[in-house]
Amino acid sequence: MPEQTSAVVIIGAGPAGLVLGNLLLAAGVGCTVLERQSRAHVEQRARAGFLAANTVRVLTEHGLADGLLKGGQQHDTCAFRTASGEFELQYGTLGRGEVHTVYPQQHLVRDLVAEFLARGGDLRFETAAVAVTGLTGDRPQVTVRAADGGLHRLQCRFVAGCDGRHGIARTAVPAGAARRFRRDHGVSWLALLAAAPQSMAAVAYAVHEDGFAGHMARTPDITRYYLQVPRGEDPADWPDARIWEELRHRMRADRYGPLNEGAVLERRIVDMASDVLDPIQYGRLFLVGDAASLISPSAAKGANLAVMEAETLARAMVPALRGGDEQRLARYSADCLPRIWRAQEFSHWMINLLHGPAGTGDEAVFLRELQRARLESLQTSRRHQDHFAENYVGI
Ligand code: APR
Repeated sequence: MPEQTSAVVIIGAGPAGLVLGNLLLAAGVGCTVLERQSRAHVEQRARAGFLAANTVRVLTEHGLADGLLKGGQQHDTCAFRTASGEFELQYGTLGRGEVHTVYPQQHLVRDLVAEFLARGGDLRFETAAVAVTGLTGDRPQVTVRAADGGLHRLQCRFVAGCDGRHGIARTAVPAGAARRFRRDHGVSWLALLAAAPQSMAAVAYAVHEDGFAGHMARTPDITRYYLQVPRGEDPADWPDARIWEELRHRMRADRYGPLNEGAVLERRIVDMASDVLDPIQYGRLFLVGDAASLISPSAAKGANLAVMEAETLARAMVPALRGGDEQRLARYSADCLPRIWRAQEFSHWMINLLHGPAGTGDEAVFLRELQRARLESLQTSRRHQDHFAENYVGI
């Protein structure tokens, strides 16, 4: 006999699931969040950390921003280092004048978990959703494997698939009910976390003929770096000494100043691939965040898209559950997809701005000249800089 649970079952306690859960609770809608990992795991998992102005707005409006307003750092500048020199964009004075807030995602997740529990939310760690059924009826069911290994069925009104890139929610959408548009950008990054303070005040993007390198602050004593590597690279082939030598080389430390070096705490490969499901809803199932669309980290949009979608879905679920008005729910996907594609387009543009092709053949040189022209336009055109700022921080 299925357990009657809250009106909404949310699969996944990442930014998407936790923001949605907190917004629903704040509106008086009961929800159950299922998270297959332990609380300790999700609260120490270093992921993104660049919050867009819209994300800060959503969190602030719903009383979820105390931690980030206290511990976050405002960032309004980014620097580009190229063969012909370095230039900075004070994007806080460009476009709509919006800025980023740097706040490690694991800290945000910790805050959102604490708030959800404080509001009396039903959050079940080490509980994995293993099947989602009945989506075309009005009482969908989620089969879960609890921490004790027992299987239970939860019956609800709506299911939110917030279970990320490897979740099961997507698989509950029958073939033919949605299309998956995808692109492999053909670029891979070695993503690094270093036990060292940031080496410069801004985010730095180093465009180099030997490959891209990136520098982003995370906390006062942890800094995120990226190194472009060939597809299929093994992180084990990159000991600390080799990492710092290549970062110094590509960041042109001899010209722009030394890097603050330290132990490399994390090294993992990120293959740049994106996809978008269309639609991102099926019957009583609604997909949010990475479960709905995967985006490359080139413009730090993933967590910010997740929060935008979570707010849109919460605004649609509340009238449906309170008064049966399902109009907004019916257009959840149509409301989100244009903004997902805008973010995808900008991230794709950033990939082509930061990464030139290898080789010296005619086509490689042609593409490298396009890259140089893009950088020159960004450096010299105020209109281009306004467009960049609007898309870099906006959602
Ligand atoms: N049952 C329960 N929980 C699950 C299941 C499952 N079957 N499958 C996955 N999960 C959990 C994962 O353990 C994870 O905690 O779902 C959560 C998904 O969280 P994220 O991967 O962070 O995805 P999302 O909330 O969409 O955030 C997307 O945040 O991680 C950053 O930048 C990254 O773009 C990404 C963004």
